[in-house]
Amino acid sequence: MSDLPWYIGYFSGKHWLRNIDYSIEDIFKVLEAAKDLKEKFHRGEETIYLKGKTLYLIFYNKSLRTRNSFQTDIYQLGGMGIYISPDQVYAPTLPEDMIPYQTEAIRDVARVLSRYGDGIAIRIYGDAAKWIIGRGHRIINEFAKWSSVPVLNMEDDLYHPFQALADAQAALEALGWPKDLRGKKFVVSYAYSGGLKPLAVPQSVALMAAMLGADVYIAHPPGFELMDDIMAQVKKYTEHWGSEFKIVHDMDEAFEGATFVYPKAWSPKGFFPPFSSDGQVHKDEAKAYQSRFKDWIVTMERLEKAGKPFYMHCGPADRGQEVTDEVLDIYERSLYFEEAENRLHVQKAVMAMVMGKRS
Ligand code: CP
Repeated sequence: MSDLPWYIGYFSGKHWLRNIDYSIEDIFKVLEAAKDLKEKFHRGEETIYLKGKTLYLIFYNKSLRTRNSFQTDIYQLGGMGIYISPDQVYAPTLPEDMIPYQTEAIRDVARVLSRYGDGIAIRIYGDAAKWIIGRGHRIINEFAKWSSVPVLNMEDDLYHPFQALADAQAALEALGWPKDLRGKKFVVSYAYSGGLKPLAVPQSVALMAAMLGADVYIAHPPGFELMDDIMAQVKKYTEHWGSEFKIVHDMDEAFEGATFVYPKAWSPKGFFPPFSSDGQVHKDEAKAYQSRFKDWIVTMERLEKAGKPFYMHCGPADRGQEVTDEVLDIYERSLYFEEAENRLHVQKAVMAMVMGKRS
């Protein structure tokens, strides 16, 4: 294909594990590429920039958006996606968990797949990472250490980089593509769910909002603190821009005057190692604790009282728990489906950048 766009091979051969491994300028480059790819997608233009390339998609967890957007991406880029479920191969495993002829060392899986294809994407958190917070991220790093092709993080227990990029694109689009988000209040808030969700989305979204220059507010009940080192990094980005960074414990107070609100569930980390006092996993106790905060739900009344901010959520949102049906179905300032669509465009951008080669 002649006249390749500037972004093909821009980060050739690099992994994409966390957005914070890249500079703020790099993130804006990805968003610029994603904008171009979205426009081409809507014009029906071909974007065959990764012809004949193969991406392996290893899912230790369920997915609608991530699985289908990545598979669609690689197809639309002219390549092929191969879905791998760990229970249908020798499960790729860390050294301490090896079982003869049932598992295979990640270091070997990564090197074998690197001989066949052009990228390896992985999702792992929660039960698949034994609810030891940080273990999923360690597993993805192990793949990256041994792979000679780019490794993409499709969500681990600490980070969900592609979700945050899709959200950044949705936020910028909603405002007509300003240079950055300076002067805009961006709230990442806890919302109740009966399930146990990882810290990856709130942490990655808070980091992304800070990288783009927004005033970042984190709202949660006691016990739902995000990780200290990640909050320190959020603070550093807000200091870079001269923006605000605040943690509050009241949803309405946080929402007041916000441009964007991103209310979603995450788990209280004190019930899980390495944060639990006895080093054990306490899933039932965590669920019981969460159930005290059912009033952390997003309603039309709440959004109207706050001045009608843009509503954001990565999906899947738990209707009747995190948010009411009304907000998801008729709130005119909901970005829920735009965020889901944008997964397609930001992932295509990163794949073209890391898996593409300039000839
Ligand atoms: N937001 C997100 O990652 O969705 P899935 O779990 O459906 O992939």
